[in-house]
Amino acid sequence: MIAVLEKSSTLHWLGRQLFNRDDPAAFFDPLLERVNPMWVKQYTPARVAAIYNETSDTKTFVVAPAGRWKGFEAGQHVNISVDIDGVRRNRTFSLSSSPLQWQTDGTVTLTIKRLPGGLVTNWMHDHLEPGAVVGLGDAFGDFRIPNPEEPALYIAGGSGITPVLSQLETMAASDYRSPVTLLYYVRTQADIIAAEKLRALAARWPAFTLKIFTTDESEPQLLCEDHLADVPGLPARRCYLCGPKGLMDLANDLLYRRGISEDRVHSTFFSAPAATLDTDSLGGAVHFERSNLDVSSEGDAVLLEIAEAAKLSPRYGCRMGICHQCSCRKTSGTVVNRLTGKASGPGDESIQLCVSVPRGPVSIDI
Ligand code: FES
Repeated sequence: MIAVLEKSSTLHWLGRQLFNRDDPAAFFDPLLERVNPMWVKQYTPARVAAIYNETSDTKTFVVAPAGRWKGFEAGQHVNISVDIDGVRRNRTFSLSSSPLQWQTDGTVTLTIKRLPGGLVTNWMHDHLEPGAVVGLGDAFGDFRIPNPEEPALYIAGGSGITPVLSQLETMAASDYRSPVTLLYYVRTQADIIAAEKLRALAARWPAFTLKIFTTDESEPQLLCEDHLADVPGLPARRCYLCGPKGLMDLANDLLYRRGISEDRVHSTFFSAPAATLDTDSLGGAVHFERSNLDVSSEGDAVLLEIAEAAKLSPRYGCRMGICHQCSCRKTSGTVVNRLTGKASGPGDESIQLCVSVPRGPVSIDI
């Protein structure tokens, strides 16, 4: 049986003859997953090669995607898919390594912080071990290194450092000559992610200036006018922001007041959900109308995950409320937005499946 399954041409022939499928290989995924998870075709499998502690609540997962993965640009994000208690869960994270690492040794890194109440991040911290396989989606996002080369300012907070790490590594490797400054805000010294890597970059890359500020120690060092005033040649710099919403709002405001035009400021979203939800009140019976399917849900599972667990394949992109590719009609019932915590109305309206959690019975037009 194994010898037969190793032949992709045989897979395609069997798929066409028996199942009349566009992607016949996907038919064998459950079987292949049992034989060898690296062969699964529905997503790109990536084997966990190593796991490092960054801080008390942040780990770096080194994963090796299967050869068909298309790669990424520094600063982009990927969807990660893991099976938790038999349900496939997907979340978006930034890649923290440079594309050069993937080209050199075939690995990428994901630096992930535990989120309070976060199902997937906590599961990854507690259960994922070297040798396990996760699903890796195609990279997306347009948070990109200045091109052509120009002076840059990065303002990052907490785990918002991850796409910045990828970019800084890439710039240092390409001998980026224009000045690059990073203002990095963390709660305490113990919360600095990739401290060694950042300090090594500062030591070996002359164009790079690293400044780390702690916001929760005896003298809180919050982002302020003075921090920006100390950045030489600020008006000529392209600015990149990544961190909690409060820090990004403040940075945008301060940069605007210093006359930096909006088109020179680039932000990337932060993967943490903004709302803490009362999961006891969530979940309910979900009716997928066109599929004539009824399922039940619990806790903070979103409709996209619920539909996928029911073997439906709704369209999606970012899976975190950004791209609207998953928008569809809710014909009745109430959903709660996992990012904002806001409840919808009870009637017919457009919702985003990837961030909508049922609160009681709902009917969806898919
Ligand atoms: S998949 Fe992008 S908003 Fe839902």
